[in-house]
Amino acid sequence: MKTFALHSYKGGTGKTTLGANLAALFAQKGKKVAMLDLDFQAPSLHTLFGITPRTAYLNDFLSEKASYEEVLTDLTDSLKTKGKIIVGFSQPSVEAIREQLAKDRKWHMQAISQLLVMKQKLEEDQFDYMILDSAPGVHYSSVNAIVASDFTIIVAKIDNFDFDGTIHLLDELYGPLNKETLLLFNKVVPLLLKGKHSGVTDTVKEMFAEKTRILGFLPCYCEVPLGMGSEVLAVTQPKQPFIRQLRKIVTAIEKWWP
Ligand SMILES: Nc1ncnc2c1ncn2[C@@H]1O[C@H](COP(=O)(O)OP(=O)(O)OP(=O)(O)O)[C@@H](O)[C@H]1O
Ligand SMILES: [Mg+2]
Repeated sequence: MKTFALHSYKGGTGKTTLGANLAALFAQKGKKVAMLDLDFQAPSLHTLFGITPRTAYLNDFLSEKASYEEVLTDLTDSLKTKGKIIVGFSQPSVEAIREQLAKDRKWHMQAISQLLVMKQKLEEDQFDYMILDSAPGVHYSSVNAIVASDFTIIVAKIDNFDFDGTIHLLDELYGPLNKETLLLFNKVVPLLLKGKHSGVTDTVKEMFAEKTRILGFLPCYCEVPLGMGSEVLAVTQPKQPFIRQLRKIVTAIEKWWP
């Protein structure tokens, strides 16, 4: 099994959208996929996958108050994928978010061991991918997602905030943790990918050449937000240009981690 996190320096780069669609694309290819919402500060997967309130969440599993089976929901039938896809949701109530933000280092140390228990169980159940959606920045929960992963896809936009922040993450977080990374630029202004501006991508590649592998450059498509964050386009609109581009990213991931 391969485990990867989606992470970023700043928020809103597209981690959740990309993670959910990658999960669906892998499952459509017949892979067994588990996706976990580890963004306890702003849970999103319940909205994206349209799931009604439930009794147990990942928060409960990490606190050893619920079992592995209780917190994972099988979405294979509703998403009509060839391979199995299961999702673990994070508790979206304000109270739970506040409680989660107040957790100390000790709690997070226990949470990482629980995360590794989950990983081992999924491995025993012969899953092919465990995909971890994380919060942006360097909160404990994001670091736990990175630590539990074989590699991390860092999602960034093409601007100086993300360049500077991503370089800090690579030098001061991923480097010391000795973790592999793939850098994916998302929401790239299409103008930068062709014609006289296309040199920008070469400059960006050069900037990160010594630090990470570049996974790709995904354009900004105005249609992507039309799903209002409640649609997995790989399922509802598999021919959409964003999804076509994302299939190339799937191939690139498989190339790096066969
Ligand atoms: N390639 C793209 N083109 C256009 N819009 C996009 C693209 N990728 C993502 N988006 C949109 O960007 C918004 C933010 O995406 P998303 O919530 O996935 O980001 P995030 O990194 O998970 O955010 P957060 O850091 O808050 O968790 C959403 O409205 C989504 O539809
Ligand atoms: Mg997100």
